[in-house]
Amino acid sequence: MSSRIAGRVVAITGAAQGIGAATAALLAERGARVALGDLDAARAAQTAARIGRGALGLPLDVRESASVVAFLDAAEAALGPVDVLVNNAGVMWVGPFADEPEAAAERMFDVNVHGVARGVRAAAPRMLARGRGQIITVASVASHIAPAGEATYAATKHAVLGYLTGVRQELRGTPVQLSVVMPIVVRTELAAGTSSGGMPALEPAAVAEAIAGAIERPRFAVFVPARVGPLVRLLALLPQRGRDVLYRRLVPDQARETDAAARLDYERRMLG
Ligand SMILES: NC(=O)c1ccc[n+]([C@@H]2O[C@H](COP(=O)([O-])OP(=O)(O)OC[C@H]3O[C@@H](n4cnc5c(N)ncnc54)[C@H](O)[C@@H]3O)[C@@H](O)[C@H]2O)c1
Repeated sequence: MSSRIAGRVVAITGAAQGIGAATAALLAERGARVALGDLDAARAAQTAARIGRGALGLPLDVRESASVVAFLDAAEAALGPVDVLVNNAGVMWVGPFADEPEAAAERMFDVNVHGVARGVRAAAPRMLARGRGQIITVASVASHIAPAGEATYAATKHAVLGYLTGVRQELRGTPVQLSVVMPIVVRTELAAGTSSGGMPALEPAAVAEAIAGAIERPRFAVFVPARVGPLVRLLALLPQRGRDVLYRRLVPDQARETDAAARLDYERRMLG
């Protein structure tokens, strides 16, 4: 068992399925006590029961500050002080910008940006008072690039990276660590019907492993896979024409390549 994970209390948002569920399972296996929060509370409870090892499934809507506070309170009442909060809940609408329903854009900002800020505001003061803690946010490589067909989603992931960069400055020198995990396309329901472009899609377990790695060795920016980091930095240095060439090779055009029919069920449930 690993020393930095075993015995830690970890609260994970959006953990009923996908990356959050894989992260909860991996950390529990390594000895953490995990609380899984999700809008789909029944599914969070089922996932927690499947994981076992005392995992706890709880209701959570990151669109409500009171719900985020209640989630942390319930996790702490059952498991003890939360050492690590994983802000993972997220939603994505895909398609041409002109077709995007305003409600979908608002929902993405509410969950992907404000939902993370609600988690930070609820967890950081408790962690500062205790003199320890880590807040890990699952952002995306779309915090640095913006594929066609994902304009607003990428805007939310750019925004959340900007938010965390600022909060990190405020927390520097304190015992509270911030991390931002930025994966490429991952095989989950959120990415249903999308293209993975020039790189094969990841399994949720690969992101879970990167999150476990960020607990073992706390650092701010974590790309998944790690080789994406230098590519993103290269893109930022290139003049616009060179950037356009690399985009065409590596970044999928989700406006054209996505199978919209495969996303209907997900987008109806998650984006209203
Ligand atoms: N799948 C990918 O390709 C990919 C790539 C990079 C980053 N991400 C990010 O990873 C995170 C997890 O996504 P995933 O791919 O596992 O998706 P997913 O749809 O499989 O899981 C997301 C979970 O979040 C929950 N959720 C949605 N809104 C919520 C709310 N308001 N309050 C609480 N829970 C809510 C959903 O019920 C669901 O269980 C997201 O932040 C996503 O943006 C995903």
